[in-house]
Amino acid sequence: MSQVVTSRRLRAIDMAARKAEGRKIIALTAYHAHTASILDEHCDFILVGDSLGMVMHGMETTLPVTLEMMIVQAQAVMRGTKRALVVVDMPFGSYEASREQAFMNAARVLKETGAGAIKMEGGARFAETVAFLVERGVPVMGHIGLTPQSVNTMGGFKVQGRGEDGQRRLMEDARAISQAGAFAIVLEGIVEPVARAIAADRSLAAATIGIGASSECDGQILVLEDMLGLSDRVPKFVKRFGSLRGQIEAAVRDYAEEVRSGRFPAEENTY
Ligand code: KIV
Repeated sequence: MSQVVTSRRLRAIDMAARKAEGRKIIALTAYHAHTASILDEHCDFILVGDSLGMVMHGMETTLPVTLEMMIVQAQAVMRGTKRALVVVDMPFGSYEASREQAFMNAARVLKETGAGAIKMEGGARFAETVAFLVERGVPVMGHIGLTPQSVNTMGGFKVQGRGEDGQRRLMEDARAISQAGAFAIVLEGIVEPVARAIAADRSLAAATIGIGASSECDGQILVLEDMLGLSDRVPKFVKRFGSLRGQIEAAVRDYAEEVRSGRFPAEENTY
C-alpha cells in the first residue's frame, strides 16, 4: 500500500511537545500574507497580535482594535502560510464580559480564519473563561504580566512583577491559566528573576513564551516590525535584527529620483 506523506500545519499540542523535548519555541507576529510567508518556515507559531492597531494603524494603544480587524489580518496570514500554527489575539472587549461572549467570538475567529488557536490577555480572573473555551475545543494561549489592553488600569506600559506581592500574583496567574488548560502563556514585560521562576515552575503544563521576560522561557516572541528595525522607537527588550527602515527609505529615495530624472521606467520595464 502506498503512503502519501503530506506536511501538516503545527498545532497547539505541538508546542507542548517542544516544551517536553526542551526545544525552544520560535514565534513572531505577522499581519500580512507576504511577511507571514517569509516567517512560515522559521517559526513554530505566528501571532496575529492586536499590536497591529499600533504597528499598522498608528493607534496609541491596542484598545480600539476590533474583532473584524483581527479576522481580516488573520485570514491574510493563513493565506500566506502552510506550516506554522497561527494564533489570533482576541481584542479588547471581545471576551471579558462572560465565558459565553468569549466562546462565541473565539469560535467566530477559528471558523472565519482557519487559525489554530486564540490568545487572551489576563491572569487568574480569566481562568474560568480559559477552561470554558478549552473544554469546547478552542486552544487558548494566555498572556500575563504587562498586558497592553489593561494600559488604563495599569497606569501605563509598566514592567510587572516587582516586589513580593507582584511576584506572588504573577505566579498565581501562570498556575491558574495553565491549570485551566492553556497550551502556552506569553510572559510580557516581567522582571527577569520572576519570569525565570515562572518558566522553571515544573507544575506548569503550559509552555512559557517570553517577550521582555527571560531567556529561560520555553520560547520567545517579538513584534516583527520591531525586530526588523521598521519601528522608530522600541522598548529595551527588543533586539533589532535588521534595519529595514533605512533600507526602505533609501529605496524610496532612489525610486523618486529615477522617476524625476526619467530613468524609470526604462526600456526593460515597458511593453
Ligand atoms: O499583540 C501582540 O503583538 C502581542 C505580542 C507582543 C505578544 O501580544
